[in-house]
Amino acid sequence: MALKFDFNNMFDFSVQGHGVTQDEINEALPQAQAAAAHLKKIIADPAARVQLSLEWVNLPKQKEEDIAAIEKIARQIRKKFENVLFLGIGGSYLGLKAAQDALCAPYYNEFKSLRKKAPRIYFEGNNLDPDTLQVLLKNLNPKKTFVVVISKSGETTETKAALILVEAWLKKGAGAKYGRQILAITDPQSGSLRKRVNAEQEKDILSFRSLPLLKGVGGRFSEFNMGLVHLALVGVDIRKLFQGAQEMLSRCSQDDILKNPAYLYAILHYILYLKKAKSLAILMPFSQTLKSTADWYVQLLAESLGKKHHREIQVGSDGVENWVASKNSLFNLGRTPISAAGTNDLHSIQQNNVEGQNNKVVTFMRVEKFKTDLKIPGKGDLLSGKSFCQLMQLAQEATEWALVSQNRPNCTIIIPEVSAYNWGALLFFFQMATAFEGELVNVNAFDQPGVEGYKNYMYYKLGKPGIPAAVTEEINNKPLIKDSRYIL
Ligand code: PA5
Repeated sequence: MALKFDFNNMFDFSVQGHGVTQDEINEALPQAQAAAAHLKKIIADPAARVQLSLEWVNLPKQKEEDIAAIEKIARQIRKKFENVLFLGIGGSYLGLKAAQDALCAPYYNEFKSLRKKAPRIYFEGNNLDPDTLQVLLKNLNPKKTFVVVISKSGETTETKAALILVEAWLKKGAGAKYGRQILAITDPQSGSLRKRVNAEQEKDILSFRSLPLLKGVGGRFSEFNMGLVHLALVGVDIRKLFQGAQEMLSRCSQDDILKNPAYLYAILHYILYLKKAKSLAILMPFSQTLKSTADWYVQLLAESLGKKHHREIQVGSDGVENWVASKNSLFNLGRTPISAAGTNDLHSIQQNNVEGQNNKVVTFMRVEKFKTDLKIPGKGDLLSGKSFCQLMQLAQEATEWALVSQNRPNCTIIIPEVSAYNWGALLFFFQMATAFEGELVNVNAFDQPGVEGYKNYMYYKLGKPGIPAAVTEEINNKPLIKDSRYIL
């Protein structure tokens, strides 16, 4: 059974005055068709895919021997270690965390029987908060802990700082050959982590083993690349995941864009954003285990489509496109993503969703069959004899109704069950929808220049050598004002 998409509540016939009309669709169609044709052309061209960071469409076609090699590494780690500590942030973390929560048993780390001989999994290097890492390093046994550091650039402060600290901890606790307990997933050629890997490997081939990130795959589109060791470690069926992603890719590549779920999702959101001022995108799975998948989507949407400039397409002498930010064409748009979860947030954000400003579109994820069910015992209570799944589904339907009753647009992704196959399909659905919306609004969906601002400021304050003069000037020209009259 495949994923289904219910868009009924996005239309004006459901949410009068706030939904999409047939006229608006007709008006958007030529632009959408041009966007689809452009995306199709790039996806069909291997050089363009790599140059423009769309090589992720090929990740589910990875060779059997490559999957087997990753599973072999995972088996070796499983045999020797009780804990695996993953270091990474952004696209080097969120997909792994989403997979951990969606595809492993809840309370995985707490109960041995749930782990089925797999190690406990921890994520760090995704924050500069010292408290979590400190507790972990105080309590884990370095001899029994394997470390996987994931960073494409190798330069990301959060991950780098954590690695330096974790290395010192390993060296002290596991001895001189501690490098054999580190695996690095990084760019195959460039970056400081790659340099480090090469240097360590020259000294000891078993130290700092590494797996390359594929060329032309950006962080937030790379779960099926950088997340594979993690998936293999916890026993997820990678082949099934790839099958689900491939099936979704072919569904989302069909030419009739009104039958293409990812493209229709993007078109409807695009119209509601530009014509009906729905600037907030709330993703609300009715499943605790999919909450981190919603967090993963927040990054995907925010970094891909929240842009200052439109895209300028330049064509090189080889005919391959290059996308640059068009400094003369200001965009300064992008829907703001928010992750929530049903039913927890029905007692929180839902009040605002129903009665606050009508500036949002809610995407629900509805699970048809949970891994287990619990029947409420007893007689005489309204809830007696009902099951948790039944109540969950009713709560989702009721939330849809509450929104529709106030003319608040929403849509639902119906997931038959949270399996590797469906989760693979789900990620590919969102990735295709995001890439297509980038085409629709004409921005480069595969860079994130806005993230540089805080990094540059930190580097400047830390005294990093080689900061460009323009950056230094920008920081000096606009210092933060800390007037004590306004600090109470
Ligand atoms: O989507 C992206 O490319 C970013 O969010 C990166 O994943 C994030 O900044 C981490 O970068 P790196 O893997 O280089 O440490």
